[in-house]
Amino acid sequence: MNKKINLGIIFGGRSTEHEISVRSARSIINAIDPDKYHITLIGIDKTGKWYINNIQGFLQAKNLLQATPDEAVENEISIAKKDNFTGVVNISNNQSIQSLDVVFPILHGSFGEDGTIQGVLKALDLPFVGVDILASAVGMDKDFTKRLLRDAGIPIAKYLCVNKNNFKQYSFEKIISILGNPVFIKPANAGSSVGVHKVSEESELESSLLDAFLYDNKILIEEAVIGKEVECAILGNEDPKASVLGEIVPKSDFYSYESKYLNTSDTEMKIPADVDPIVAQNIRETAVKAFQCIGAEGLSRVDFFLRKDNTFVLNEINTMPGFTNISMYPKLWEATGIGYKELLDKLIVLALERHQRNMNLHTSL
Ligand SMILES: Nc1ncnc2c1ncn2[C@@H]1O[C@H](COP(=O)(O)OP(=O)(O)O)[C@@H](O)[C@H]1O
Ligand SMILES: [Mg+2]
Repeated sequence: MNKKINLGIIFGGRSTEHEISVRSARSIINAIDPDKYHITLIGIDKTGKWYINNIQGFLQAKNLLQATPDEAVENEISIAKKDNFTGVVNISNNQSIQSLDVVFPILHGSFGEDGTIQGVLKALDLPFVGVDILASAVGMDKDFTKRLLRDAGIPIAKYLCVNKNNFKQYSFEKIISILGNPVFIKPANAGSSVGVHKVSEESELESSLLDAFLYDNKILIEEAVIGKEVECAILGNEDPKASVLGEIVPKSDFYSYESKYLNTSDTEMKIPADVDPIVAQNIRETAVKAFQCIGAEGLSRVDFFLRKDNTFVLNEINTMPGFTNISMYPKLWEATGIGYKELLDKLIVLALERHQRNMNLHTSL
């Protein structure tokens, strides 16, 4: 039998999406083929400390990261490279614990989806699942994403970008004269609808901006696009493929944090989305183009708003989308013919292939 692949799964993290990452990790561990992979489960707590989790304990406990804080401190680890070893090292005694062949950083939001962890893994020469440093950073920043999309001729919603120093220059009246009423306020770098507000009254503007500023220094004020929310999953490196489309039907006013994670029964996921086939094909091609335009490889979920007249705008590119077994990204692939377990295998192969390709590049003359 072939040697097992040493797979490190990094989850949790210093992000508002910590809990979602824990759920994604649990689904991955439950599904992944134990005959093919030797799993090392690396949890990052909310303060940013890393430690190894016991897999059985993690699967049984609701949230091991919070359940055993003392143990966490004693077992603090890091990933390091020394001599011929690259893998998990105990930072209190410098002992090598487990070598790694490839890492799946199933982390969402800041420090996980924004190029930070990707930089650490790249510096250590470790292959990793998902988008590389630059595209992660771009995909995380809704302002930079839109600039690149605009450059590629991909339709986006009209928006203004403000910071703490200049936001007072924009009165409600001025904003709605540019963008219409209502508008959406959102942190440039966030996710899971954290800090996102729909504003239709002058009295809501300042409090919404101040709330958004809790999560980022840069805020987008955006034209509200009335229509369906449709999403497309992308998979691949040089020749990325698009899945069928899915539709999010939130029963609340918009797809808020509550409707995403707390009152999930409030939201319906329609797969495939009920979209005219020619329009759907156009959206899928646009999703691939957007993926390539930010330089993404591996995977992403590309989200659109589709108006009644069948025009659409690209809302955002999620470079590490929710990955529980009931999340949109894996569900879209399932509907396109790739099951959850197979999807994991494919992502790991893509990680190894990209790493091999990049290793062949010359690093000296
Ligand atoms: N311009 C917009 N027009 C209409 N709805 C919007 C707009 N921007 C955001 N929303 C609503 O808010 C939700 C969260 O915003 P989004 O930009 O996707 O941020 P996040 O990264 O937090 O998911 C969207 O799924 C949608 O329901
Ligand atoms: Mg979104």
